[in-house]
Amino acid sequence: MIKCTVNSKEPKIIITEAEGIPLIDLSPLISCNTEAEDSSLVAEIGDACKNWGFFQVINHGVPLKCREKIESAARKFFEVFDLTVKKPTIIPSSHQSDDKELNQLMNQWPEDLPELKEACEEYAEEMEKLAFKLLEFIALSLGLPKTRLSGIFKDHDSFLRLNHYPPCPAPHLVLGVGRHKDPNALTILGQDEVGGLEVKRKADGEWIPVKPTPNAYIINVGDLIQVWSNDEYEIVEHRVMVNSEKERLSIPFFLNPPNSTWVEPLGELINKQNPAKYKPYNWGEFLAKRARSNFEKLDIENIQISHFRI
Ligand code: OGA
Ligand code: NI
Repeated sequence: MIKCTVNSKEPKIIITEAEGIPLIDLSPLISCNTEAEDSSLVAEIGDACKNWGFFQVINHGVPLKCREKIESAARKFFEVFDLTVKKPTIIPSSHQSDDKELNQLMNQWPEDLPELKEACEEYAEEMEKLAFKLLEFIALSLGLPKTRLSGIFKDHDSFLRLNHYPPCPAPHLVLGVGRHKDPNALTILGQDEVGGLEVKRKADGEWIPVKPTPNAYIINVGDLIQVWSNDEYEIVEHRVMVNSEKERLSIPFFLNPPNSTWVEPLGELINKQNPAKYKPYNWGEFLAKRARSNFEKLDIENIQISHFRI
């Protein structure tokens, strides 16, 4: 059951009963936080990362207005739309490591919908703030200094995506988004009230629907956190089922490090008893390969972090 109480700024959500993935109240983080509250939040986030790889956050400090604005602009636009957060974003133009050519990505905005640009830019800024706070808590939960992970993202090549899923009369015949793991560090997903996201529960491999919670965000850790943590936090698969009657809107924010980043288990987390489980790989090259195999789905296996496993 969800109750909303109104305070001076934003309605505060109080959840008395939750199902499925853990639901974490970030209000201690947003208000004046004491160290005791901090440490229980660190433990909660650490447990969620370890046991689920997924959690929802409420009272996260992202203004509801900012979300309503992007949702309303996105509904007017309705097509998948990807945009970069940094302007411009530089990526390798090919997946070949000896090819040093770079591509520059610039956002193109529809001329007849000026509010889309403003809404997306404001929203991306809020997502960035929340992502950095979460990274600090994830770092602490791994026993690392607070800024150990966020430091990697001083510069970053993150993406915001607007997904529109039209209704389908035979939803069992189509897949909104097939089962996959996110290759990035952290994804912050805003899904509307229609729902459809399902997470593969670690404990038993069951697909668990993520129940839409008003003004909550769904957080999942991606491949990069798995590699940096040397498998302490393992990523889980998720997928999106299409609704037979209602269209669905979702807005994922993908926190990506700069494309030049080399990724490997963090030195602080490996030792003789727990040696590195992955060889270093280049993030930009990984993404370029992933993009290529997405287009050639039938004959090339998608690049996976398991290819770098030692
Ligand atoms: C994704 C994803 C979920 C959704 O884009 O990686 O998992 O609900 N999206 O749209
Ligand atoms: Ni995903």
